[in-house]
Amino acid sequence: MLIKHAKKSQLKESQLTSESVYKDRRNIIKGLGLAALSVPFTSTASASVFDIFSGDDKKNDAGSGTFVRTPLEFTKNTNFQSLTPLTPEDKILQYNNFYEFGTGKGDPAEYSQQFKVDPWSLTIDGLVDKPQTLNYEDLLKKFEIEERLYRMRCVEAWSMNVPWLGFTLASLLKEAGIKSNAKFVRFETIYDPEQMRGQASRFVGGSIDFPYVEALTIAEAMNPLALLSVGLYGKTLAPQNGAPIRLVVPWKYGFKSIKSIVKITLTDKAPVNTWQALGPDEYGFFANVNPRADHPRWSQASERFIGEGNVFQQSRQKTLMFNGYEEEVAHLYKDIDLLRYF
Ligand code: MTE
Repeated sequence: MLIKHAKKSQLKESQLTSESVYKDRRNIIKGLGLAALSVPFTSTASASVFDIFSGDDKKNDAGSGTFVRTPLEFTKNTNFQSLTPLTPEDKILQYNNFYEFGTGKGDPAEYSQQFKVDPWSLTIDGLVDKPQTLNYEDLLKKFEIEERLYRMRCVEAWSMNVPWLGFTLASLLKEAGIKSNAKFVRFETIYDPEQMRGQASRFVGGSIDFPYVEALTIAEAMNPLALLSVGLYGKTLAPQNGAPIRLVVPWKYGFKSIKSIVKITLTDKAPVNTWQALGPDEYGFFANVNPRADHPRWSQASERFIGEGNVFQQSRQKTLMFNGYEEEVAHLYKDIDLLRYF
């Protein structure tokens, strides 16, 4: 998500596994992680080309640290089970955006394996009747966990299909009690430069002013699609995917789905989200997936679906309005000019 200026001295390699571990076949995809300078975002085309080159028959070490994901009990939500094909688990685990650990797609898996998720505390405060703090066990036990297969569309024009585990954001907000003057929900990621190398160095973290912040309107937050995820593929989240708890809003670009949340604040003032602050002409508050609203530097009409195989075997597909969730969310924006409020 950065403009990356190629200087020979700044080139480094990172690695991504390109085949599903289920099939026990492993390829190497080498990422050319060009150093991130202070301006946000690569073009999509160049991001794809820079991030992935293919190769064969080498062992992948990215993400081979010690973080252990534990199996979760859950029910399958039958309304969201028919999405195929799913993106292989190893790709969801190793092709990530999580600038707190670095700007390369392989950095989050490589540098987050020692990240501590327990103890954890998630505070819900602001304009709520019952401000509260949930600990790690609460996150996994307090709400009934369901599995939902959702499409995920990054603003960089790649996409995945992910089997998330979690509970609705609405259930947590209802439990806290929304005061009548609350208009927005603001989310904040943990700030811990000792554990997150991207927070310790502006260069590593893509010049973001951490902590990472995101926000939704109350109506968006209460939409039944908005999920707080605590796992995927049957197990708790890995740090690189936002353990122990992250947001998933599938009709919006992936940057809205903030990871490793420590604070949820209800407010009457519109928060400025991290990417909006970095590039207000390029990233808005809403960030709804929209094939007709191109990014100033690239088209959003199509996307590269990350499935089996390496980048050269992956197909492009048409981007869908609201990422395919038009029926569920279009009513939220019926009075809004989506090209102006992007
Ligand atoms: N949350 C935090 N705190 N920091 C980030 O850099 N990146 C976002 C989002 N949430 C990001 C974040 C972006 S750009 C995307 S596309 C998704 O996380 C990627 O989620 P994934 O790596 O689990 O696929």
